[in-house]
Amino acid sequence: MASLDSTSWSVPGLLLALLLVFYSDLPHVRGLEVSTGKVSSIEAMNGSTVLLPCTYSSCIGIHKLYFSWHYNNNGSKEKLCDGIVPSEGAEAKVKVKHPRIEFVGATKGHNISVLLWNITFEDEGEYICFARNPKEKYRNHSASYTLYVVDQMREVDNTLTVIIVSVLGGVIGLVIIVMVIKALVVQFLLKDDEKNKECLVNASGNDNTENGLTGAKADNKGTPKA
Ligand SMILES: *[C@@H]1O[C@H](CO)[C@@H](O)[C@H](O)[C@H]1NC(C)=O
Ligand SMILES: *[C@@H]1O[C@H](CO)[C@@H](O)[C@H](O)[C@H]1NC(C)=O
Ligand SMILES: *[C@@H]1O[C@H](CO)[C@@H](O)[C@H](O)[C@H]1NC(C)=O
Ligand SMILES: *[C@@H]1O[C@H](CO)[C@@H](O)[C@H](O)[C@H]1NC(C)=O
Ligand SMILES: *[C@@H]1O[C@H](CO)[C@@H](O)[C@H](O)[C@H]1NC(C)=O
Repeated sequence: MASLDSTSWSVPGLLLALLLVFYSDLPHVRGLEVSTGKVSSIEAMNGSTVLLPCTYSSCIGIHKLYFSWHYNNNGSKEKLCDGIVPSEGAEAKVKVKHPRIEFVGATKGHNISVLLWNITFEDEGEYICFARNPKEKYRNHSASYTLYVVDQMREVDNTLTVIIVSVLGGVIGLVIIVMVIKALVVQFLLKDDEKNKECLVNASGNDNTENGLTGAKADNKGTPKA
């Protein structure tokens, strides 16, 4: 009865633990790298500095590649910075238009990432990395990156979730271990009982039929050695 009770408790417990793990991990699952065409997001604490990553690639090479970063502020786009990469391998000429934006890209790696310093809750939203290569008939390429700004309190909540999940997992693990040990011990005891019964039967059999003989045999074997 006791083991039945613990199994019926641990199944919803396990489901809850799984749900919590999914809930707490979802915002972090998204990758940090964005290349044109992919959508990604990041969750960052207010006051921190975030990297808005963006890379470009072109199989036919680049010439006077134009790129820009925009912030989608409630529908109206605010230009954060833009620049031109004159040619493959040449350094980008960048104009930054936002006080907290820093261009950290490098021609090597086709990197046009920017840093957004000291973020506030107002910075939350969509950031669009745009690139246009005249060599590719001015085709527009863009990728967006969504920034979620969280309070320091949310971070604490996350650690609490982790702690709760760990404790739940530990308790469930312990219950399973205890059940396994219990099952093993019960089986062991049953086997031991059977062995004891067998021994008793054998002993009584010996007592009844070969009492004198066994004693004589033991004596005979003992004497030549000693
Ligand atoms: C983040 O925001 C909270 C609430 O507005 C504020 O108390 C805290 O000082 C902020 N942290 C930073 C580093 O700006
Ligand atoms: C911005 O969004 C809010 C709701 O999220 C809306 O009430 C407001 O009108 C929007 N402002 C502009 C300028 O679109
Ligand atoms: C970010 O904040 C720190 C400390 O508040 C300040 O020293 C620094 O100048 C800020 N950086 C930018 C780019 O605003
Ligand atoms: C782009 O450059 C930044 C700053 O050097 C770096 O942190 C980031 O990892 C680079 N991204 C790629 C895809 O190389
Ligand atoms: C690229 O975008 C610009 C506006 O930013 C537009 O004028 C142009 O027609 C677009 N080009 C293509 C090929 O869609």
